Amino acid sequence: MKKVRKAVIPVAGLGTRFLPATKAIPKEMLTIIDRPTIQYIVEEVVASGIEEVILITSDGKSAIEKHFDYDYELDNVLKQKNKQELLAELNHISNLIDVVSVRQKKPLGLGHAVKMARKVVGDEPFLVLLGDDLVRSETPCCRQMLDLYEQVGESIVAIQRVPMEQTRNYGIIEGEATGHERTYKISRMVEKPAPGVSDSNMAIIGRYLLMPEIFEILENTTPGHGGEIQLTDALQALSNRRGMYAYEFQGRRYDAGDKLGYLKAIVDVAMSHPTLGEAFKQHLKDVCPCGPSPKKISC
Ligand code: UTP
Repeated sequence: MKKVRKAVIPVAGLGTRFLPATKAIPKEMLTIIDRPTIQYIVEEVVASGIEEVILITSDGKSAIEKHFDYDYELDNVLKQKNKQELLAELNHISNLIDVVSVRQKKPLGLGHAVKMARKVVGDEPFLVLLGDDLVRSETPCCRQMLDLYEQVGESIVAIQRVPMEQTRNYGIIEGEATGHERTYKISRMVEKPAPGVSDSNMAIIGRYLLMPEIFEILENTTPGHGGEIQLTDALQALSNRRGMYAYEFQGRRYDAGDKLGYLKAIVDVAMSHPTLGEAFKQHLKDVCPCGPSPKKISC
């Protein structure tokens, strides 16, 4: 079984749900307290033992590359001012992991974005993480998937259960439980099903572990839902060809490319923040319309 060493993170989308904030700033650079969303995602990859990140970027996203680069001038200024803590933080970011960028010239869809990584990934299984999908968990979500991969040796998509009325916003999988915990063998996938098309509520989130055959399939995938080259369509073909698993990951997932999801992510991160957490929780109690609760935040 080939080792998974690389993670592809597509960040070339337009981010229209977050306009006007994303007119000049990539949505992946919107901050959750003092770090951009993309840093949390790269840190998950690093904590999972991955060796290389491949960013799929587009025009206007250079701030993301700069964020993970070494900044000689800033480094000098901080040294002169003896700002040791900030220096350490910046060095931590630029030393996190090797980052390679590949351009997606037009936003033709997530499937198209992943296809752009073909030359850099080569003939190896790899991870895909969406640049705006944040997962908070004790064991990093990617690590959970890698542990399962070591047992099943096939492609895996991370899933979560969503209310039935929300299935139309997701790629939905249908399948049978396997002998492995929280794991299903996929029989069918539907991208954003209309009501009544599927009775499953198992929604694909922004974490995938894929066999390299996906690239050849993507080369032949025609535009689907919304006129875009859909990753889900190619996943269905890969699943038919050699089988695929869905894994109900442990943790909390936030779509930080959506305004409400982004707010929820901030609240979650802030509540467990080592220096701000207690004061923030007190603030939530103070502003709660249900009145202060000594034990639990009630709204
Ligand atoms: P989204 O569905 O969130 O699309 O893409 P988007 O364009 O970024 O944002 P909205 O919906 O207009 O607000 C999911 C992920 O796939 C990437 C995005 O950057 C995001 O990380 N993506 C999407 C690409 O890299 N290229 C594409 O053509 C489409």
